[in-house]
Amino acid sequence: MKKRVCLFLALILVASVAFAASGKELVGVVMPTRSEERWNKDGAAVKEGLEKLGYTVDLQFSDDDIPTQVRQIEDLITKGIKVLVVASIDGSALSDVLANAAASKIPVIAYDRLLMKTPDVDYYVSFDNYKVGRQMGEILVNGAKLDSPAKKPLNIELFAGSPDDNNSVGFWDGAMDVLKPYFDNGTLVVLSKQTERTVCGTLRWDAAEAQKRMENLLSAFYTDATLDLILSPYDPISLATLEACKAVGYGSAGKPLPLVGGQDCIVASCKSILAGEQYATVLKDTRSLGAATVTLVDNILTGKPVGTLDTTSYNNGAKIVPSLLLDSVIVTKDNLKKDVVDTGYHTAEEVGL
Ligand code: BGC
Repeated sequence: MKKRVCLFLALILVASVAFAASGKELVGVVMPTRSEERWNKDGAAVKEGLEKLGYTVDLQFSDDDIPTQVRQIEDLITKGIKVLVVASIDGSALSDVLANAAASKIPVIAYDRLLMKTPDVDYYVSFDNYKVGRQMGEILVNGAKLDSPAKKPLNIELFAGSPDDNNSVGFWDGAMDVLKPYFDNGTLVVLSKQTERTVCGTLRWDAAEAQKRMENLLSAFYTDATLDLILSPYDPISLATLEACKAVGYGSAGKPLPLVGGQDCIVASCKSILAGEQYATVLKDTRSLGAATVTLVDNILTGKPVGTLDTTSYNNGAKIVPSLLLDSVIVTKDNLKKDVVDTGYHTAEEVGL
């Protein structure tokens, strides 16, 4: 009997050593929703990259539902993941489940969106969100040539991202810092006077909500005035606000569509840019973000140095989270081929080139 128990234990030992040596550790990856183009690309990039290195990946999408995301993370912890990568829905809503991850000694990487008000996050991998916001502002300044002499006042309305997503703060602050001089010198006017991020916010980045707000703004403030510019933090919001404008006659001869930028470089926006409707977008290459995350996970699990991280920019309210921040690119009609198609981010067929 004793012999058999020893043999059994030896087999377990051999099996677990073989499992560890094969590098097949399980990594949990949780993305907020399948219904937005970018998170599908992000999820696929991280999964494929980790699998190429021999890891097993459990990839979950949370349907933009916080209890679902909490449950998925709990399940992953139970399954024995060795690292958790999570792009949150509400950055402040995961503290309890992240405490469970910490208790199980699972390193946590906040993916693209910072996990807020918790000490139980180890790394943040994202873009420089303030810089992205500045690019959103620069799109409008350059597109509308706000620096040209004797520019007449232009009307602008402002849209912000989801108030529960810390990225919205960086995007807004960056854009406002660029636009402020033009508000101050009277070049830009917000007829609605809605100039607070929370008032201009779009819960869960919901384009339909933004479209409704745009419709309301147009009927309340623009029956006798023209809307010239829209600040948009997200391509589907850009397209939705343009739809609202088209519905009241913009985009016809003598009444051009307002100039709008965006973010994420989605296929529909690339098409719109090429068609001369949306003016520009900000490309945040999900392949690079995925690759950076894969390298970080691998370094953590193989005990290699994680490289130089930014240890000043991202305070989540409980700690400064060491961050790896990537660069983003403004895309207009002029560089769409070079920076989007030639790099393989979207194919020529997809964007209709
Ligand atoms: C991301 C953006 C994305 C938005 C909506 C933000 O946290 O940084 O890239 O457009 O969420 O999903």
